[in-house]
Amino acid sequence: MTALSPLVDCFGRVHTSLRLSVTDRCNLRCFYCMPESTQFMPRDEILSYEEIVRFVRVSVRLGINKLRITGGEPLVRSDLPDLIGMLRKIPGIEDIALTTNGIRLSEFAQSLKDAGLQRVNISLDTLEAETFREISRRDGLERVLEGISTAQKVGFEKLRLNALAIRGVNERDIVPLGEFARQQDLELRFIEFMPLDAENNWEMNRVISGADIRETLEVAFCRLVPLELRDRSQPAVDYRFEDGRGRIGFINSVTEPFCSTCNRLRLTPEGQIRNCLFSRVEWDACALLRSGGSDQDLEHLIRDCVRSKKTGHGIDSDDFQKPARSMYQIGG
Ligand code: 5AD
Ligand code: SF4
Repeated sequence: MTALSPLVDCFGRVHTSLRLSVTDRCNLRCFYCMPESTQFMPRDEILSYEEIVRFVRVSVRLGINKLRITGGEPLVRSDLPDLIGMLRKIPGIEDIALTTNGIRLSEFAQSLKDAGLQRVNISLDTLEAETFREISRRDGLERVLEGISTAQKVGFEKLRLNALAIRGVNERDIVPLGEFARQQDLELRFIEFMPLDAENNWEMNRVISGADIRETLEVAFCRLVPLELRDRSQPAVDYRFEDGRGRIGFINSVTEPFCSTCNRLRLTPEGQIRNCLFSRVEWDACALLRSGGSDQDLEHLIRDCVRSKKTGHGIDSDDFQKPARSMYQIGG
């Protein structure tokens, strides 16, 4: 479907995946992502669905074929199935996925599926109500579990759990989460804690590495056998338990960066294009969208952004600087 030359950066990485953050709002307050209290962006600064769709149409002509909707929590926009339906109609979009905290998933799973959503990632860091409250500073574990169960019934092409394990917070949850994934026959991915929190709580020694988690799970259950990479640019390394029950993946963004195969571009809720979670520069698509910019202007902007992409995030280098925004303002 690529009508124009693809989006290649200076290191030869071809960009085909776009992450759309549709809001910075959230019904939880996970400490690794948000501050306890915050001022959200004014609603009129957040892109409308029509604006998002226009941006996606232009991106598709440059080779984007995979979308992931993120936030904040995307389902705080109650009409999200409408956006999915609009995106579904764009020729060239092969895959639409959603990352959600699961709180409102029971309500929306069926209409999301009907609108054409293919894949859902649900964040689940613990199975203990008290730990859930400690992490997210809200109640809601039961609703998340209901959301998971409804999504299983609705039957998406792919359903996955995402977990963050943080030293001193929820290392006790690693084995129970593994057990849950095995019982429910769900895929579970552990993501390493990245310096994208709002209150500067991140420290290298709080990161539990994917390698350590793997060992913990192997001791508790049985050997993890690596699966073949489905997609060369996927950040996760996936395994299956040797006894055939359950699959576990690891996104070792801190200890084993996968920047060299990154093919992702991001659009923030208020229409800034970013070429990396950790970039400190943004390209203002909103200004073009709202001031009569042409599709060609947008194309140039997207290309500029991709061309400026750095080799990697450099978390482990001495001059690493956290981006000015936290996760909920960028999109996970
Ligand atoms: N480090 C790693 N992952 C994070 N997420 C949010 N904040 C961070 C962080 N600091 C992930 C959560 C959630 C998704 C929306 O983003 O795991 O699943
Ligand atoms: Fe909300 Fe997700 Fe951030 Fe938690 S991680 S505060 S659920 S956006």
